[in-house]
Amino acid sequence: MNIAVAILGATGYTGAELIRLIDSHPHFEVAHLAAHSQAGKLAGDVLPGCAGEIAAMTLASADAALPEEVQLVFTALPHGAAATSVFAALEAGKKVVDLSADFRHKTHATYKAAYGADHPHAELFDEAVYGLTEYARHDVAGARLVANPGCYPTSTLLPLIPLLKAGVVDTTSIIVDSKSGTSGAGRSAKTDLLYCEINESVKAYGFPRHRHAWEMEEWARGFADADTRIRFVPHILPMNRGMLTTMHLSGRDTDKWLDILIKAYADEPFVKVLKQGAMPSTAGVSGSNRCDIGVCALSDHEVVVVSCIDNLLKGAAGQAIQNANLMFGFDETTGLARHALWP
Ligand SMILES: NC(=O)c1ccc[n+]([C@@H]2O[C@H](COP(=O)([O-])OP(=O)(O)OC[C@H]3O[C@@H](n4cnc5c(N)ncnc54)[C@H](OP(=O)(O)O)[C@@H]3O)[C@@H](O)[C@H]2O)c1
Repeated sequence: MNIAVAILGATGYTGAELIRLIDSHPHFEVAHLAAHSQAGKLAGDVLPGCAGEIAAMTLASADAALPEEVQLVFTALPHGAAATSVFAALEAGKKVVDLSADFRHKTHATYKAAYGADHPHAELFDEAVYGLTEYARHDVAGARLVANPGCYPTSTLLPLIPLLKAGVVDTTSIIVDSKSGTSGAGRSAKTDLLYCEINESVKAYGFPRHRHAWEMEEWARGFADADTRIRFVPHILPMNRGMLTTMHLSGRDTDKWLDILIKAYADEPFVKVLKQGAMPSTAGVSGSNRCDIGVCALSDHEVVVVSCIDNLLKGAAGQAIQNANLMFGFDETTGLARHALWP
C-alpha cells in the first residue's frame, strides 16, 4: 500500500513540484493538499500544471487537521509560517520534511541572526536533521523531522565540503557568487518580481548579508568541521528555474582539487563532477535532481568552482523526496530523474 502524503503549501512553486514528483512516485500518494490564500479552491483551478484526480482535490487550509491516514507531510510554506505546521504535524504523529528554513539551524541565536525573529518551536532544533542527503543519509533515515536545505546552500555545500574536508581551502576567503532563476523567490506577488522588473535584467540582492550565508557556514562546520567566513552574494535572473553558483577560492594543492571532488562523488547518483576543462550549465541539470560541478585551477593557489542545480529539484522538492525515500526505507533515487530536460 502506498504512503499517504500531505503537501502544505501545495499552491507554491515547490509545492507544485512535489505534486508532480509524488504523482509518479511508486510508493507515495498525494492524500491531502493545503494552501493559505487559495484554500477552498480546487488544486486544478490554481495550478495550471496540475491534472487528473489531483486537480479535482480541494485545497485545505494550512492549519487544518491532517487526515488520519497521512504518514508523511511536506511543508512547503514560507519561513516563519512553517514552524507551527511542522509542530502540529509531529504532534499528530506524522513524519515531516520541511522545505522552509525554520529548522535548518541548531541554535536559536543563529536562527535569530539570520532571520531576525524569535522561533516558536526552537525546542525541535536538536531533533531536526539537516537533510543534505549526501552527508546525512544515516540520520535522515531515522528522522521524524528533516530540515531540507536551502537551494543556495545546497549548490555551495556540495562542492565545498569535500575540499574543506581535504584541508586545501583557505577558509577565510571564500567568495560565493550565485545566480537563481525567478522561481527561487516563490510564487507570491512582489513588485520586484514583476516581468518588467526582471526581464532583460540581472540584479544582486540580499545585502548586507543574505540569510543563507549563516546556513552555509553552519553546515560547513557541521559536515566538514571547518570554521569558515563566507562572503555570499545572490543574483536573480530572468529565467524560470535553475541556479548557478561560482565560488572563488584560494588554498593549496590546487592541481588536486578536481580529483578530490571526483573521488568524493564517484558513487553518488545525483552529483556529477565534470571532466577537466568542462563547466556546468543550468540547462544541463534542469528537471533533474542533479548537482553538476566544474573546477578550474587558475594558479597554484586560486581556483574557480562552479556548480549548477535545478533550484526546485535538488534545491528543494527533489532533495525533499530523496530524503523522504530514506525516511521510509526506499532507495533514495526512487521517483527522481538523473537526466535533465534537455534541450
Ligand atoms: N522556490 C525555491 O526555489 C525554493 C528552494 C528551496 C527552498 N524553498 C523554500 O520552500 C518554501 C516554499 O517556497 P515556494 O517557492 O514554493 O513558495 P511560494 O511559491 O511563495 O508558495 C508558498 C506557499 O505557502 C502558502 N502560504 C503563503 N503564505 C502563507 C502563510 N502565511 N501561512 C501559511 N501558508 C502560506 C501559499 O499558499 P497560497 O498560494 O494559498 O497563498 C503557497 O502554497 C519556502 O520556505 C522557501 O524558502 C524554496
